[in-house]
Amino acid sequence: MNFGISNGVNYIRQTSNGMKIIIKNNYDELSKEAANIIKEEIQKKPNLVLGLATGSTPIGCYKELIRMHKEERLDFSQVTTFNLDEYIGLPANHPQSYNFFMYENFFNSINVSSNNIYIPDGMAENVEEFSKEYEKKIKEAGGIDLQLLGIGSDGHIGFNEPGTPLDSRTHLVNLAVSTIKDNSRFFEKEEDVPRSAITMGVQTIFEAKKILLLASGENKAEAVAKFIEGPITPQITASVLQKHLDTIVILDKAAASKLKGKY
Ligand code: PGA
Repeated sequence: MNFGISNGVNYIRQTSNGMKIIIKNNYDELSKEAANIIKEEIQKKPNLVLGLATGSTPIGCYKELIRMHKEERLDFSQVTTFNLDEYIGLPANHPQSYNFFMYENFFNSINVSSNNIYIPDGMAENVEEFSKEYEKKIKEAGGIDLQLLGIGSDGHIGFNEPGTPLDSRTHLVNLAVSTIKDNSRFFEKEEDVPRSAITMGVQTIFEAKKILLLASGENKAEAVAKFIEGPITPQITASVLQKHLDTIVILDKAAASKLKGKY
């Protein structure tokens, strides 16, 4: 089979036991299910290496994890985190940076050690060097145990826009027009949305031992149907997960509304 690989790198494990699809009634239930899965992984391995995502989708999951930390003493003190991506040109203290987002929505409210938090640097002078270093740090941490993901309306994971090679590693990307539009809701005006970003590559994400992808709302329904039921293609970078051995997808009914199969 040809998955559009440019250099023949053997990046996909060829056997698959399929993605596990969980459909919940609404966003609240989806968020709680996701948080429960993360909690279980931390309880199994207190020094979990946790890949994290930004955007609207994981906010409910972060809220629930914060509640678990406060009310059930879920302990993040040994957890290491790696974020997927960051806008180029936004310093860490910029309110629209993903660094700022993570502290606001999660890190400030749990007991993760700041020494164990890794987020791509949108102000890196040499993005290529930084990207190599980021990959090295993931490796040194023992690889990502559990990667939390959202999905773009164009099927992206991280900021791996349509056309990104499936064997890509952490790299600089130009954002798709649809992503700039989607994300303009966080900015005063569309012109303010950065045009480029640094993101873990598709292969970097694929190498996580376990993957948890969340999608909510009707505007994700088409991308969801394509990545689960369509061909594996760089045009929908999430489709690579069809070959991953341990991927859980949690959807609400709206996001699942264009799936043809029964799950
Ligand atoms: P969203 O973004 O959660 O804000 O919809 C998801 C993504 O672009 O990966």
